[in-house]
Parts: sequence; C-alpha cells; structure tokens
Amino acid sequence: MCGGAGFIGSNFVRIRVREEADEVVVLDKLTYAGRRENLADLPEVSLVVGDIADQAAVDEAIGDGVDAIVNFAAETHVDRSIAQPDAFVTTNGQGTYQLLEGARRHQVARYVQISTDEVYGSIEEGSFTEESPIVPSSPYSASKAGADLLVQSYFHTYGLEALICRGSNNYGPYQYPEKLIPLMVLNALHGDPLPVYGDGMQVRNWLYVEDFGRGIGHALAHGHAGEVYNVGGPDEAPNIEVVKRIVELTGADESIIEYVTDRPGHDRRYSLGSEKIRALGWEARVHFAEGLEKTVNWYRENTDWWEPVRSGDYREYYERQYGRKLG
Ligand code: NAD
Ligand code: TYD
Repeated sequence: MCGGAGFIGSNFVRIRVREEADEVVVLDKLTYAGRRENLADLPEVSLVVGDIADQAAVDEAIGDGVDAIVNFAAETHVDRSIAQPDAFVTTNGQGTYQLLEGARRHQVARYVQISTDEVYGSIEEGSFTEESPIVPSSPYSASKAGADLLVQSYFHTYGLEALICRGSNNYGPYQYPEKLIPLMVLNALHGDPLPVYGDGMQVRNWLYVEDFGRGIGHALAHGHAGEVYNVGGPDEAPNIEVVKRIVELTGADESIIEYVTDRPGHDRRYSLGSEKIRALGWEARVHFAEGLEKTVNWYRENTDWWEPVRSGDYREYYERQYGRKLG
C-alpha cells in the first residue's frame, strides 16, 4: 500500500487490518499530508518511509513479494497544484510509473490505482460514467489523469492486472485541514473566518471515507483488470450549504463566513455515476448529513491530532493561500 499514512490511505488500512486481517506494508514519504499518527492505533502495520518515485524504495517495500499494490500516494490538493505544480508531476506521474515498473519487476498479481472524479472535469448536469472523456482542469487533475492513462497502458501492453478506482470528494476523520470540510470545521471551532471561494455555488459529490475504502476493497477483490470503477458519494451539495451546516454543527456564528476571490479554473460541479461498482455489490452506507456530523464530532474529540498540524508548516501555507484573500 502506498500513501497509507495520508487521509484515505490510513482509513483504508484500518478497515483492511481490522475487518479483513490483511498484512499491510505501507510505503509513504511522510510529506506534510502523511503522518505516523494516522497509523498510531495500528502497530501491526509496517511503515517503509520512502518515495514512490524512487525505485530502491519501491523494491524495499515490496520486499520478498506482495499480493497487491494499492496506490494512494499522491500530491492531492488543487490549490497547491495551482501555486506549485512541480511535485504533482513528479509524484503523481513519475511515482506511478515507478510503482507500475515495480509491479512488473516483482510480478505483483494485482495493482489498484486510486484516482479521482476530477479527471473528467466539470459537469453541469447528470453524472460522469467510466466512458466519459478525460478533461482535467487543474495541474492536480491533469497529473492524476496522466497516471490513469499510464496504468491502462501497463494493462494493455504488459498484461499487468491493473485497475483504477475514481472516487468523488471524500470527507471523514484524519483529513488534513487544507481541504474544504476540515478547514471549515477547525476555523469554525476557533471562530476564524470561513473563506468561501467565488459564489459558493460549486457542487461536490460527498463520499464518506469508509465508503470509499469499502468500494476500493470491492474493486480489489472482484473488479476486472483493465477496468475503471467510479465510486461516488450518495449526496451532492453546494459548498455554501456545506459551510452553513458546519456553522450550525459547531455552534459558530454565520457572520464568520467570508466570500473570497475564486480559485482559477475552478470546476463548477462534480458528479459520479457508480452503477458499475454497485454491480460488484458495493453500496454507500453513510449519507452526508450523518457523515458530516460524525466528522465534526471526530475533530471536536481529537484535538491532539490536529493541534500540532495547525501550528506547524500549515500556518505558512495558510498565510500564503488565504492571507491576501481574507480581509
Ligand atoms: P493525502 O494528501 O491525505 O495523502 C497523501 C499521502 O501520500 C500522504 O501520506 C503522503 O505522505 C503520501 N505521499 C505523497 N507523495 C509521496 C511520494 N512521492 N511517495 C510516497 N508517499 C507519498 O491524500 P488523500 O486525500 O488521502 O488521497 C489519497 C488518494 O486518493 C490520492 O491518490 C488522491 O488523488 C485520491 N483521491 C482523493 C480524494 C479526496 O477527496 N481527498 C478523492 C478521490 C481520490
Ligand atoms: P477541496 O476540498 O479543495 O476539494 P476539490 O477542489 O478537490 O473538490 O474543495 C472543495 C470545494 O470547496 C471546491 O469547490 C473549492 C471549495 N473551497 C472553498 O470554497 N474554500 C476553501 O478554503 C477550500 C479549501 C475549498
């Protein structure tokens, strides 16, 4: 497993170890987004600290062999990709290439690439299917789209048993507070401004992180090599509604909501059709209203997890990203 110290990866490892009794090796570079603390309750997991773009690190993690590689490792934040695309090209592109080569070298039986609905671009009405064209808007989504194409080429060219899972926007415990929901929750708990981009009417298709983890598990066990599986959340909401609900759940005052300059190239709406993964027996279990409440409670109860995050490099990032935007 790669990127298992990050948000979705650590939630996935927790499900695999607790519910499937899998033996898991995590290869993770521990960037700002990857933290040992995310795996602290799972001492049975072996962590190899290294870069997926480094062949030696990939070989070390595979060791004497693994049954499957599931790749979560990536640079993942759209705003960072707009400010500094460099690491996105390296990790998401070169990193995926090194993992595919590692899978080939060590004859790994199965490879699952974790991807995103953002590779399809924006959709005004209806939902994307796995057949929809790839039209990414940001350096982040473009780097993920490139990785997906490379994965498919390894299936067609070398017969690698590779498949791709494209998730919609995830939320839940252990998410780094640069993404919409944890950023707004922590700001609301502190009474800090809530920076809403543009008119706040952009729509996202929210997926509880454990539902994504179980969807990936289904694809790993039952999916067909060479195929793409969309894993979309059960609910959609405009950002401003999400932010207002967070204000209610945290007991903050609505006056802290501040409309700020929009993100360049901002996708208006994402929506994923998930019929194909449903046909494998997957169904989302957690609706947004319930999942958001659980998530807010998790952040309330886990100050030990986020206090060190909010005080470190994050402050510099926050200042760069929001300093000029916020009044
Ligand atoms: P995250 O930013 O929380 O975690 C990324 C992890 O990858 C971190 O542990 C980081 O240390 C590690 N990493 C980064 N560069 C690395 C490198 N070069 N070598 C080894 N490890 C490296 O990300 P996330 O939100 O958990 O996303 C995981 C995957 O799911 C990504 O591939 C992302 O594109 C995809 N995805 C995310 C979402 C979402 O809403 N967050 C939705 C759909 C798909
Ligand atoms: P984000 O969590 O960055 O995910 P993505 O861009 O991958 O969908 O953002 C989700 C939505 O929230 C997106 O429309 C941008 C918006 N947003 C804000 O309005 N303010 C913010 O401070 C952030 C981080 C995001």
